[in-house]
Amino acid sequence: MGRTVGELAEATGLSVRVLRHWDERGVVSPSRTPAGHRLYDADDVVRLHRAITLRALGLRLDRVAALLDGTDPDPAATLRAHLAGVDADLRRRRVVRDRLAEVLADTAAEPGDHVLSTVLREMTMVGSYVHGYRATEATRLRDQAATLADLLHDGVAFDDGAHVLEAGCGVGAQTVVLAARSPGARFTAIDLADGQVAAARARVAGAGLADRVDVRVGDVHAPPLPAGSVDHVVVFFLLEHLAAPAEALTALRRVVRPGGTITVVEGDHASTSLHPDSADARAVIACQVELQRRAGGDASIGRRLHPLLTAAGFDDVAVTPRTVHAHAGRPDLAENFTRRTFTAMVAGVREPAVAAGLITPERFDAGVRDLLRTAAPDGTFSYTFFRAGGTRAASTRSVTPTNPDRS
Ligand SMILES: C[S@@+](CC[C@H](N)C(=O)[O-])C[C@H]1O[C@@H](n2cnc3c(N)ncnc32)[C@H](O)[C@@H]1O
Repeated sequence: MGRTVGELAEATGLSVRVLRHWDERGVVSPSRTPAGHRLYDADDVVRLHRAITLRALGLRLDRVAALLDGTDPDPAATLRAHLAGVDADLRRRRVVRDRLAEVLADTAAEPGDHVLSTVLREMTMVGSYVHGYRATEATRLRDQAATLADLLHDGVAFDDGAHVLEAGCGVGAQTVVLAARSPGARFTAIDLADGQVAAARARVAGAGLADRVDVRVGDVHAPPLPAGSVDHVVVFFLLEHLAAPAEALTALRRVVRPGGTITVVEGDHASTSLHPDSADARAVIACQVELQRRAGGDASIGRRLHPLLTAAGFDDVAVTPRTVHAHAGRPDLAENFTRRTFTAMVAGVREPAVAAGLITPERFDAGVRDLLRTAAPDGTFSYTFFRAGGTRAASTRSVTPTNPDRS
């Protein structure tokens, strides 16, 4: 006697939609009744519990399926990559914990709103990166990269022998896609946070790319490479977090050889459109935009790419909007983009948004529910990314805006 998909959804807390998706992805594929309904036997239920555990660790669905099937070519590398992510998360939490303890000790005599705002300011100082460095954020970045690979990387391929710098590589989610699409190119990937670098290194090693992808700690404002030493630069979702993105681009231009290129991909939160529309959902998105603004970033920077690249001295700048439109005809996008990427991202700012008094917890939760609602079969969700390309002209020229050569 088996269990139906509805019964298992009830028992596990997973939605029927997720169980169907996991079946399609080969994670847990039960037998079917003569009428075509899914029927989970005891082995399927055991496998499902293992899958839920692996998924909770932050592993991607294809990795989960491969581990359960025993076909993961290097399960130890997969687990090492995960361990690196957990270690990074622990380090991060330790820093935040110590800072909170310090702030509370300093302000013990004066509790209340003042303490709250001090804590928030201090936490912002600990890391102005609005998405944080949690394991769930690492998972989100990996899901985002996998889901959007075709949309964002389409046509991005580098010649054999080319040296490519990826700035702000995070956990290496885009790095492995970039390297896989340019099998003859060599990459240097940098990130400011050593935890991200450790996770990216493990991910690169797990993908068998360590021989041509060097991951190191580095600041985009002062890339750790000689001037004119790389053929191409790529930047994904970094400028949105920087207080002075034009300066970062100018620094990147310096390390590109004359004739080399830059490719930048950024989002624009104001491009979001929802059906059913919801003021609460838009309020939640506005919280993320506001927190990012307070941290010095711009969640709608995608629309500014052309002027920014031009101001930094790049030539032949061209920008194309790339829209994700999730609907019932694209259940993969509804699951992986609407739910796992976008909603997961904005849901991650609940605590700081509430602590900053931007929204009530009730309204925030209602907004997240409404965002998830757009992933239902009768809902739709759209978001536009912007991809910009530019070159460093072969003739040398200064990037100082006052330079007469530029006019
Ligand atoms: C949203 S994540 C994007 C990661 C990756 N590009 C991706 O798309 O998956 C932004 C990353 O930029 C890094 N970062 C922030 N400021 C930086 C800086 N000044 N130099 C280098 N990396 C930086 C953060 O540590 C974080 O890992």
